Amino acid sequence: KAGRRRKDSLRLSGHRHACHAMIFASCPDKVFGKIPVRYAVLMQMRFDGRLGFPGGFVDSRDGFLEAGLNRELSEELGLQPGLLCLTEREHVLAHVLPLHRDRPVVAHFYMRELSLMQLRDVERAALRACEYGAEVMGMVRVPLYTLRDGVSGLPAFLCNSFAGTAREQLLWALAARRLLPPGRLREACEIARV
Ligand code: APR
Ligand code: MG
Ligand code: MG
Repeated sequence: KAGRRRKDSLRLSGHRHACHAMIFASCPDKVFGKIPVRYAVLMQMRFDGRLGFPGGFVDSRDGFLEAGLNRELSEELGLQPGLLCLTEREHVLAHVLPLHRDRPVVAHFYMRELSLMQLRDVERAALRACEYGAEVMGMVRVPLYTLRDGVSGLPAFLCNSFAGTAREQLLWALAARRLLPPGRLREACEIARV
C-alpha cells in the first residue's frame, strides 16, 4: 500500500474518498504516579466494534476533502465550527484501500496537535455529538507505554480490531512524530505481531 499525495489521489477516477484525523496533545500525566503517558492520542470505538479515527466518507455535497472531513468531525466530535477546523496543510497520508461496496476507497489521514486543555474540550464536546451512541460508541486515548509484563499497554491495544487502515495510520503517526522512541514502538509491534 504505497502512500499517495493528496493531489495525485484526487486525479483517480471512480474512487470514493474518506478522511480521518488524529488529534493529539502532549500530556504530563503519569499512570500509577510513575509511568509517563507522554501524549494523549484520540481514537474512537466505532459502531462496528472496531477502533478508528474520527472522520468518514466525503460525499459530492462536500465539494472538497477538508469540507467533508470537517463535516464528519462535527457529526462525530460535536464541535462548534471554529474550535477544530482542519485544513489541507494537516493532510499527511493517502492510501488506496480495497473495494468498499464495489468502489475503491482512498483513505486520507490528517494530524492536528492541540494543547491538553483543548483536547479535553474536544473529548467533552464528543459526548454531545449527534453521532455519539450511534456511529461513535466512545472516545478512547491510546496507551503509548508498555507495562512490566511486556504486553499490557500499547502491545495489547494494537491487538484490537481496527477499521480500514487505522492501525497503519496510528503506527505511521507515532513513528513520524516520534511520539514514542523508535525502539519502543518496534518492540510493541513485535509483541503484538503487527
Ligand atoms: N478510521 C476509520 N475508518 C477508516 C480509517 C480510519 N483511520 N481509515 C480508513 N477507514 C475506512 C473504513 O474502512 C471505513 O469503511 O474508511 C471508511 C469510511 O469511514 P467511516 O468513518 O466508517 O465512514 P462514515 O462516513 O463516518 O460513516 C460510516 O459508512 O459504511 C458506512 O453504513 C456505514 O453509515 C455507515 C457509514
Ligand atoms: Mg461519520
Ligand atoms: Mg466515521
